[in-house]
Amino acid sequence: MTTTFITGANKGLGRETARRLIALGHTVIVGARDPELGAAAADALGARFVQIDVTDDESVAAAAADVEKHEGSIDVLINNAGRHGPFGDPSELTGDDVTGIFDVNVAGVVRATTAFLPLLRRSADPVIINVSSAMGSLAATHDPARPESHFVAPVYTSSKAALTMLTTQYAKALTDIRINAADPGYTATDLNGNSGPQTVTEGTDAIVTLATEGPGHGSGRFVDRDGEIAWS
Ligand SMILES: NC(=O)c1ccc[n+]([C@@H]2O[C@H](COP(=O)([O-])OP(=O)(O)OC[C@H]3O[C@@H](n4cnc5c(N)ncnc54)[C@H](OP(=O)(O)O)[C@@H]3O)[C@@H](O)[C@H]2O)c1
Repeated sequence: MTTTFITGANKGLGRETARRLIALGHTVIVGARDPELGAAAADALGARFVQIDVTDDESVAAAAADVEKHEGSIDVLINNAGRHGPFGDPSELTGDDVTGIFDVNVAGVVRATTAFLPLLRRSADPVIINVSSAMGSLAATHDPARPESHFVAPVYTSSKAALTMLTTQYAKALTDIRINAADPGYTATDLNGNSGPQTVTEGTDAIVTLATEGPGHGSGRFVDRDGEIAWS
C-alpha cells in the first residue's frame, strides 16, 4: 500500500492527481489550506483531508503531526500547491509581489519537505515530486514553438526555475529519496483562467508517472508527460 500526501489537492492538478492515484490503489491524503474546500474534495474522492497552508510553519508542522498520528508514514510527497503571480510589464513590480509567490512556490516546498522527511524516511521507497513548470526553463521560454515563450511572467517563471534547481540540489543531497520535478504542461485550471489546451488528466500524466514508476528510476530529473526534459 502506497501512502501519498498532496499539497493543494482541493482543485486543479492536485485534485486530479489525487483522483488518479486513488484509482491506482494509493492511500491519498488531500492537503488543502481551506478546510471546507479541502474536506469537500476529500469526501468526493474518498480520501482523508488534512489542512495545510504551505506558507505557515505551524500549519505545516501540524499537518505532518496529523499524518504521523493517523498514517505513521508516507511513501510519496507531492509538492503541488502553487500560485501564478503578476503577468506582463514588470515596471511596477514590488518586493512583496515576489516574496508572496516565492513563499508558496519555493519556501512552501522547503517547509513541507522538511516537515514530512521523517515520515518519508519510514518508507521502503520514498519519493518526492515537486510540481514545477517549463515556464521556469530557459530553453522552453526561448523556443518560439513552445507556449511558454509567449508569456511574460517574471515572478512565476523565476519561482519555478528556483524550484527546479531546488529539486536537483535536494536530489544530490538526499540520496536515500527519489526526488524529481514534474512539468504538467499548459493545462486548463484556475491558475491560468482555464486557458490551457490540456485537460487536467493530461496535465497530471508526468506527476502520476513519477508517483508510480517504482524503485530504480533516477533522482534529480525534470519530467513532462512525454518523458525527461532539459531545463537549462
Ligand atoms: N495549470 C498549468 O498550466 C500548470 C502548468 C505548469 C505547472 N503548474 C503547477 O501545477 C501546480 C497546481 O496548479 P493548478 O494549475 O492545479 O492551479 P490551481 O487550480 O490554481 O490549484 C492551485 C492549488 O494550490 C493551492 N495553494 C495555493 N496557495 C497555497 C498555500 N499557501 N498553501 C496550500 N495550498 C495552496 C490552492 O489552494 P486554494 O484553492 O486554497 O487557493 C490550490 O489547491 C502549481 O504548482 C502550478 O504552478 C500548472
